[in-house]
Amino acid sequence: MFLKNRPFSFAWICLLCSPVWLRAQTLSDAAIYRKADSLIRLMTLEEKVNMIHASSSFTSGGVQRLGIPELVMSDGPHGVRMEHGRGWTELNVDDSVTYLPVGVCLAATWNPQLGYAFGTVLGSEANARGKDVILGPGICVIRTPLNGRNFEYMSEDPYLISQMVVGYIRGVQSQGIAACVKHYLANNQETNRFTINVDMPERALHEIYLPGFKAAVQQGHVLTLMGAYNRFRGQYCTENAYLINNILKSQFGFQGLVMSDWGAVHNTMEALMNGTDLEMGTDLSMLPHPDYHKFFMGDTVISLVKRGIVPESVVDEKVRRILYVMFKVHKFDSLRPEGERNTPEHQAVALKVAEEGIVLLKNEDHLLPFDQKKVKTIAVIGASADWKNAGAGGSSQVPALFEITPLQGIRDLVGPRVRVVYAPGYRIARDFHADPTMIQQAVEAARKADMVIYVGGWIHGYSNAWDDNAYDAEGVDKPNMDLPFDQDTLIQAVLQANPHTAIVLMGGGPVDMTRWIGQAKAILQAWYPGMEGGKAIAEILFGRVNPSGKLPMTFPKKLSDNPTARFDSYPRKNGFEYYSEGLFVGYRYYDTYQVQPQFCFGHGLSYTRFAYDHLQIEKSGPDSVTVRFTLQNTGKMAGAEVAQVYVHEQHPRMVRPEKELKGFQKIFLQPGETRTVTIGLPRSAFSYFDDHQMKWVMDPARFDILVGSSSADIRLKGQVDFE
Ligand code: BGC
Repeated sequence: MFLKNRPFSFAWICLLCSPVWLRAQTLSDAAIYRKADSLIRLMTLEEKVNMIHASSSFTSGGVQRLGIPELVMSDGPHGVRMEHGRGWTELNVDDSVTYLPVGVCLAATWNPQLGYAFGTVLGSEANARGKDVILGPGICVIRTPLNGRNFEYMSEDPYLISQMVVGYIRGVQSQGIAACVKHYLANNQETNRFTINVDMPERALHEIYLPGFKAAVQQGHVLTLMGAYNRFRGQYCTENAYLINNILKSQFGFQGLVMSDWGAVHNTMEALMNGTDLEMGTDLSMLPHPDYHKFFMGDTVISLVKRGIVPESVVDEKVRRILYVMFKVHKFDSLRPEGERNTPEHQAVALKVAEEGIVLLKNEDHLLPFDQKKVKTIAVIGASADWKNAGAGGSSQVPALFEITPLQGIRDLVGPRVRVVYAPGYRIARDFHADPTMIQQAVEAARKADMVIYVGGWIHGYSNAWDDNAYDAEGVDKPNMDLPFDQDTLIQAVLQANPHTAIVLMGGGPVDMTRWIGQAKAILQAWYPGMEGGKAIAEILFGRVNPSGKLPMTFPKKLSDNPTARFDSYPRKNGFEYYSEGLFVGYRYYDTYQVQPQFCFGHGLSYTRFAYDHLQIEKSGPDSVTVRFTLQNTGKMAGAEVAQVYVHEQHPRMVRPEKELKGFQKIFLQPGETRTVTIGLPRSAFSYFDDHQMKWVMDPARFDILVGSSSADIRLKGQVDFE
């Protein structure tokens, strides 16, 4: 059988990447600072201030007299957003691009190389569209299943986020484009995002919420970072002294520029003194002629400096950071590689990420893969089968060149020999409730078919109007974990009509499946899988591709099982969101508190089987180990396994979660093939943040090393003693 699940060829990526000669000619940081400082010396105060705030919807101001251009930005995390011109009016231009799978689907690949490929596509296309900065990746921790923007983010686990974000950023920046990691920090919900005040225990801050950003800065060398809308410990994040000056710039050593989220600056003095470098956003009430000089970091700054209240050096430092980014993205030379968009290679990355990110959650009686040769009629049921997602979701909207829906993907794959009958079964419409006629049509189609593919789940929003009672969208959270549009009723009827039904769920996270999961033999979590998503879904359903995605977040059975429900820590009524669950986010909670999820973190099935054996744990230094084991594909199909390494501390000095992910590797194996997997665990894998000493510490203790196929399916167990 022809199988696509084999190591991805990155030969073409190498062609896209910045060539060696380009790197060789790129200026050193010291040279950049020398040039930036001599430019600053030539600038008037007014010119400097013009650079630290927006000059249109997606540009920062330049200084024409000195040949300093504007910095041009665009959303967003999974494709370059449509053109909005300088004033938020959509332009009638050819802005079509590659629509990549959303962030959570990328994370579900557990393949950092694909993170790099993804970023490279995004960088290349942003470049081709005349941008300098792409406003992604989004890496807020998935804390509640209800967050409307979870689809844009990556995971509940800081280690997985850190591994995926670095590749993404390096990929974008290999194209001479700046990535923008967002939203710093704790923008973990959309409910009241402009006003809420978040607080959390210090340990949770360092162990859960900061590591992704730290990796973005220290390993990804991200050039720009976006402050979140919300407040943290009383101060708005974008102008938060502790988060920006202390942690980001001093401790992490961030050299790039901190921009506000759009309209997230609230106070000139705080922004000036607490690390905001660039105020972005448009006061929409001022359209069509917003006066950006009237913004917090506009004329008021000039007057504060002139009155001697703020030293000019404060402004210089911001301009210096902006110029640093400009030099890095080649605004002053012609060394940026050529950008491209809508190439077959870019579409191949979109397909590959979907193929590796879609997760097979359940597959009883080997219902999947469907055997194409044995099928005459297929019923495709569910309105999401014929629904496009690219243009929705909020600021992450993408003007996709095309989008293969699941229905089209299935039709294309099975060809004209197989009859495909489509019955939507429900309508995507506000307040829709089960329609007996539509259900009847779906049931009829299911009964007459050899097999049924149900495609439902969440959508981004109605008719792409993302502020209209949307589910996976910016600005709103989901009301609950229930399937919208009364799909539970429909699914139950369809499963009863034909047990040969595979359920495909779209969406940025879990739904409550308890009403029908017992009857469903096969379930696929497809997220929003991008422009080639329909093709990838079909390939997996029919076994052309062996699924290898793993859940980057826990799927609880019910919303009430979620830690924020147990700790009653979301959403709070008084605008003060205290994360009282602390460290116990995602599987750290489910494992420690022994709550059985529907599908655990790291879960994902394959059409083949993998055997783990021969665990060896060797000390590689005074506080580090090397973990080795063999992995064999014992089935009949080539496929990939994500081998996961968790660490558990025996008798910890301070409370610690039951286990924590500290290493993983995705390994592609032919049938029968065995490979020795080697994973290093450095000191950080055993450490936690001591909030008395305010530093990372490692106990002289004994640790269990747990190797497995998911956080629950542990296959090998060993120990290491640091006592
Ligand atoms: C979003 C950001 C986005 C910005 C610009 C804001 O509303 O929160 O993620 O980058 O708009 O569109």
